[in-house]
Amino acid sequence: MPVTVSDEQLQSQFTYIDAIASMNNGKQLRAYTHTFGCQQNEADTEHIRGMLREMGYTMTEDANEADFILFNTCAVREHAEDRAFGNIGSLSHLKKRRPEVIIALCGCMAQQEKNVEKIKRSYPQVSLLFGTHALWRFPSLLYRVLTGEKRVFDINGEDDIAEGLPVLRAQGPKAWLSIMYGCNNFCTYCIVPYVRGRERSRRPEEIEKELRELITAGYKEITLLGQNVNSYGKDLGLDIDFADLLRRLNAVPGDFWLRFMTSHPKDASPRLFDAMAQCDKVAKQLHLPFQSGSDEILRRMNRRYTAAEYRALIADARTKMPDITLSSDIIVGFPGETEQDFEQTLQLVEDVQFDLLFTFLYSPRTGTPAASYEDNATPQDKQRRFERLLKVQDEIVASRQAAYQGKTLRLLVDGTAKGPDYPFTARTEGNLLVCVRGEGFEIGSFIEAKIEKTSLRCLFAHKL
Ligand code: SAH
Ligand code: SF4
Ligand code: F3S
Repeated sequence: MPVTVSDEQLQSQFTYIDAIASMNNGKQLRAYTHTFGCQQNEADTEHIRGMLREMGYTMTEDANEADFILFNTCAVREHAEDRAFGNIGSLSHLKKRRPEVIIALCGCMAQQEKNVEKIKRSYPQVSLLFGTHALWRFPSLLYRVLTGEKRVFDINGEDDIAEGLPVLRAQGPKAWLSIMYGCNNFCTYCIVPYVRGRERSRRPEEIEKELRELITAGYKEITLLGQNVNSYGKDLGLDIDFADLLRRLNAVPGDFWLRFMTSHPKDASPRLFDAMAQCDKVAKQLHLPFQSGSDEILRRMNRRYTAAEYRALIADARTKMPDITLSSDIIVGFPGETEQDFEQTLQLVEDVQFDLLFTFLYSPRTGTPAASYEDNATPQDKQRRFERLLKVQDEIVASRQAAYQGKTLRLLVDGTAKGPDYPFTARTEGNLLVCVRGEGFEIGSFIEAKIEKTSLRCLFAHKL
């Protein structure tokens, strides 16, 4: 059973929230947050913003006018880390001009010793740093800074679950709902298991309760989050897996779409696809990262499936849900990837015909096994492969998007668009982006719309 943070421990954090709220009373303080990385981090930031609001802070989009600035960081690739360091670096002037500003750093980078040392040494403007495991203790940590401690660093903590933290969600009809935390898979390239700890699942009744609250509050699209949602429940000792959870959540009354991410091919199963196909509120959309089309590379990535097994999963999903929208993640240039290995990746992309791909150049992460694997391909080789892949995928997307021309679809209107001709954005059940025009709807409405034209990035529609 996963460890849950006790009521007393949480209560003490609420005491700090109250203490900070009375210190802040009448001061009209502002807080700015910036999130790097995945949806998990976005969901975490929403909890920090919830706590900040209860401490009396108003949120601002402008770091320059903020009294409290927080970066929630990502360590998955070097680029993400560089951007975070760049952002913090550029705040040193602000800190000189307004020394009372508190600059804080949290998230996956903050959970790594090497980054903590670097921040201690070279970024004196950061006065608060806490790791992913200390998130629920944010109020007591901030209290220490506000009451005079020069620098507070805390990367301790267990693989636990804190229920009932305040939350301030992004505006709009969509909400994140974490169903589990951490990862046990240790793909050899990936830092996530080291910075997020072991897999732990929330209890199904807590998840259902939160879903019911979201639906009552008017949310229309709920995305269930976890690094590998298909292994949901394994640690609970209850007789429940992810397919069961989907069925349970599908029974919650209301008009909404349920999405989930991310699925791991080694744990995705015909049982899951049956549940998806049979649950009317579960969107027919699947993000199933395959990373590489070469069995040898998959073996060295420790992914524990073959390209043939992956193809079989896709075939099963398509048999049960013919209109399913498919997306995937691919790493190009994993150490030792040969031209033949890469050709197999391209072949898989051409065969499956994904609606959307997230492609990444391999980035060595200190502390992961692959960082010490021998690598023969030059950066130029890798770049060339990367560009070939993008080109192939662009052609696939163009033809898949074009096939929507003239179709009538149910859409969820989720925001405003830039152009005047199609003033709203919406999503298909498959999560494709649509720009919409027409009358008699608002953000958060489900509408029937007809696709008028298509482009690579967007479909264009008018409401019927
Ligand atoms: N848990 C999810 C995703 C985690 S990170 C999953 O397993 O699918 C999101 C994506 O980042 C991964 O799917 C992978 O394609 C990419 N990624 C992870 N580590 C990387 C690295 N070191 N270099 C390049 N891409 C990486
Ligand atoms: Fe990383 Fe693999 Fe876990 Fe995904 S499943 S978070 S890629 S270790
Ligand atoms: Fe990045 Fe951490 Fe997510 S490393 S991808 S923010 S789990």
